[in-house]
Amino acid sequence: MLLRIVKYGDPVLEQRAESITNFGTPELRQLVDNMFETMYANKGIGLAAPQVALRQRLTVIDPSAGEDPKEKLVLINPEILSKEGTQLGEEGCLSIPGFREDVKRALKVRVRAQNVDGEFFELDGEELHARVMQHELDHLNGVLFISHISPLKRDLIRRKIRKLVKAGEWE
Ligand code: NI
Repeated sequence: MLLRIVKYGDPVLEQRAESITNFGTPELRQLVDNMFETMYANKGIGLAAPQVALRQRLTVIDPSAGEDPKEKLVLINPEILSKEGTQLGEEGCLSIPGFREDVKRALKVRVRAQNVDGEFFELDGEELHARVMQHELDHLNGVLFISHISPLKRDLIRRKIRKLVKAGEWE
């Protein structure tokens, strides 16, 4: 089932999400399936629960955009254990469609998370994989990629979005 993606301006995107404590339920599995389906339908490579208006610490990621099933990743209650190096690259967000900016991120990250059954695991990511994980984990803390760009660029984007809202083109 496709879920509605909320856009910038919705307060849920800027709130801290809460830890998931109920694992292995049909509801959680269904939510993960729905989030992948919604992400692929919108040609995204990552989607966090707050983007579908749920304040839960859950994100789905697929840097291959559906090309390689082995790249599918579900991170529940994830934390970054360590970061290394830096990279600069373009980012966008399904909640801020039409806007892309260069964002500085760590080059490599080590993340600890739980799967749908509540089992803990650790994984390393680098380059695009690390970038997506940092972007999606930010969402769980109510942080959007435009928080990482210059105030000037951020204000410009906000102004453009305000115009889109007025024109009824931002819903
Ligand atoms: Ni995003």
